[in-house]
Amino acid sequence: MKKILVIGASGQIGSDLVLELRKRFGAENVIASDIREPMKEVFEGGPFVILDALNKKDVETVVDKYKITEVYHLAAILSGNAEKNPAKAWEINMNSLFIILDIAKEKQLSKIFWPSSIAVFGPGTKKQNTPQNDFMDPNTVYGISKLAGERWCEYYFNKYGVDVRSLRYPGLISYKAEAGGGTTDYAVEIFYEAVKNNKYECFLSENTSLPMMYMEDAIDATISLMETEKEKIKIRSSYNLGGISFNPKQLSEEIKKHNHNFTITYKPDFRQAIADSWPQSIDDSVLFEHWGWKQKYNIATMTEEMYKEIKKKLS
Ligand code: NAD
Ligand code: SER
Repeated sequence: MKKILVIGASGQIGSDLVLELRKRFGAENVIASDIREPMKEVFEGGPFVILDALNKKDVETVVDKYKITEVYHLAAILSGNAEKNPAKAWEINMNSLFIILDIAKEKQLSKIFWPSSIAVFGPGTKKQNTPQNDFMDPNTVYGISKLAGERWCEYYFNKYGVDVRSLRYPGLISYKAEAGGGTTDYAVEIFYEAVKNNKYECFLSENTSLPMMYMEDAIDATISLMETEKEKIKIRSSYNLGGISFNPKQLSEEIKKHNHNFTITYKPDFRQAIADSWPQSIDDSVLFEHWGWKQKYNIATMTEEMYKEIKKKLS
């Protein structure tokens, strides 16, 4: 019997992931957890527990109590917030991963999902169509923690047989929960401001292209990776996941198709340097070769749905 624990379930990805997992595998089989309460739909739709991923004993208690077989470990500090408190970001991003990997090893859990990021790449990486394996010199604490995490995931698979699976997510765009303090958050904030105020001041410059993905696609890719036969997963660090590449100017042009009064201005802050160190587009052909997943949304369909949903949410 599949029993799933989602750690970091109150965040941007967790909110959507828990709802989709409950739909596919039954509400009673998905235990959501976080250090803070989630949105109402997640809280009321199935089991939720307050759980600190840095407390190994508490995580073990929840794993035992609910007879957990799989863990989606999402708790982390994202790129923008991590630069404000590097020591705390390193502690959460690394130590919580060790705790989950050790519990998976000791209790022989069947599968672990842990997300990596495009942030594992750095200024020395090829910017366009960044391949699965390229020069990796991340210069943010977040990127360093994700690259180290990838190495540890592969190590636990090779050394202890822990079935850990991972995707290097691009920036994720969604409407259910707010974004959690990353560099790609502008692509979520812009929709709220367009609906509320018809204008947005962007913290990245107009030509800053980054790989992005609509949440529905990201959740589908994640569950698809977790449901794929073990033998097909040949990369145990993390798979490149491509998404759609665009810059703030291109996104604002799409939004203008839904709101003719929308205007955008640019005031780059410290996150510009982070964005400039990341790839502009990603080659995910290896993922496609190994387990054949394909995304559904492009910038036009993503913008249409985001605008409609944020408008509904705010009205
Ligand atoms: P988020 O900040 O929205 O959510 C993270 C959640 O973790 C929060 O609800 C927070 O309360 C929780 N958390 C923090 N410390 C915790 C602890 N000690 N114990 C338990 N929970 C704790 O982040 P997200 O956008 O949902 O990202 C989830 C994962 O996906 C992270 O690992 C992130 O690095 C990765 N990721 C996200 C994106 C993106 O664009 N959102 C892109 C690439 C990778
Ligand atoms: N979206 C994330 C961030 O900006 C990338 O992992 O931090």
